[in-house]
Amino acid sequence: MKRIFSNREIVLGVTGSIAAYKACEIASRLTEYGANVTPVLTKSACELVGSATFEAICGRAAITHMFAPLQNPDVEHIAVAQRAHLYLIAPATANFIARATHGIADDWLTTTLLATRAPILIAPAMNTNMYEHPATQENMQTLRRRGVYFVGPDSGRLACKTIGPGRLIDPMKIVEACVPLVSERHDLKNVRIVMTSGGTHEPIDPVRYIGNRSSGKMGRALALEAIARGASVTVVTGPSEVAMPEGALAIPVETAAQMAEAVVNLAQDADVFIGAAAVADYRVETPSNSKKKKSGKKLDLTLVENPDVLGLVGAVKRAKQILVGFAAETDDLLANAALKLKKKQLDLIIANEVNTDVSGFGKDTSKAALIGRDGKVDDLPLLTKEEVAERIMDRVVALIHAA
Ligand code: CTP
Repeated sequence: MKRIFSNREIVLGVTGSIAAYKACEIASRLTEYGANVTPVLTKSACELVGSATFEAICGRAAITHMFAPLQNPDVEHIAVAQRAHLYLIAPATANFIARATHGIADDWLTTTLLATRAPILIAPAMNTNMYEHPATQENMQTLRRRGVYFVGPDSGRLACKTIGPGRLIDPMKIVEACVPLVSERHDLKNVRIVMTSGGTHEPIDPVRYIGNRSSGKMGRALALEAIARGASVTVVTGPSEVAMPEGALAIPVETAAQMAEAVVNLAQDADVFIGAAAVADYRVETPSNSKKKKSGKKLDLTLVENPDVLGLVGAVKRAKQILVGFAAETDDLLANAALKLKKKQLDLIIANEVNTDVSGFGKDTSKAALIGRDGKVDDLPLLTKEEVAERIMDRVVALIHAA
């Protein structure tokens, strides 16, 4: 996230929704990731939240008035609008959306919205009836048609005590939705990536399963990196500690068999397939339909081999399709990985040490080596999973160009 947001100029417009306080969290995350955030509060927002909070979080003066005396020419309206890499309006009220649709320029935010050429991302938050009203829906459609992006809203309990759509989507998802819009690299534009992520759960009975320690962190990092660089990303994900990023189409599955079924259909259309999931190699032959009771004796489970998801894709690999796999190894890392690369017809394999304190399942860092079909090996130092994902995507881009 830091590399993507670092030094990007973001105008954060906050409008008069009860959810305005949640914009503090958005400002905080964006600033933490290195973005330069200019907070802009409409008159109604100022009734709900204080500009001092945003100024402290962002380290910048908040813009609250159209005609405030200029203290710094850098804050001059048009200068801010022209410098911006992104206009993010979160939360956006029905009134703001209506004004933006009709080009009404009656405050700083709506005025500079007409002046900026930066992408515009809107996160609506309002009462369900207001959201579902044809006026709001048609306004949003008009804005979409003009190239404005939307994220959310969520459905749930609203401040007005109704339950339904209109709730501001989770601040982290809003931050994630900014990723492809602020990113500087677009070398995976128009590339369709299908991947697997997470672990699998193989049922023993209705309450127990055989699983593994996969957290899904590497899969999430790969999906985020690919989205940032312009790819369309579909992730078939088994149970995972982390959610897939906003912008990825996540298809949740539980077992290896379900993962194989979902992947076989999707992989046909993929330009790149990445097998990042820790797929259970075995499943219980006949899981019990009712909970197994203690019997005081040994319990034998017969395990049968699962389909090899990556292997299935490799078997029907199209010309120019790029296949990437992982090798989780505890011994003979490079030799074992190179064997898997060949056996599964891969273009690239990521050999991962999984038995150290700093690398492997659940960790934020990874010690990996990238081995190409051409024999090229990048033995990476210990890096964060986000950094490893960046290196993997660099190799994927090179493979696409070479194909
Ligand atoms: N893989 C898969 N389906 C399986 C097993 C593995 O798609 N049933 C994929 C993984 O996603 C990974 C690669 O194959 O990209 C290698 O997985 P790994 O567990 O390291 O190797 P295995 O092929 O299972 O071999 P082994 O367990 O014997 O090392």
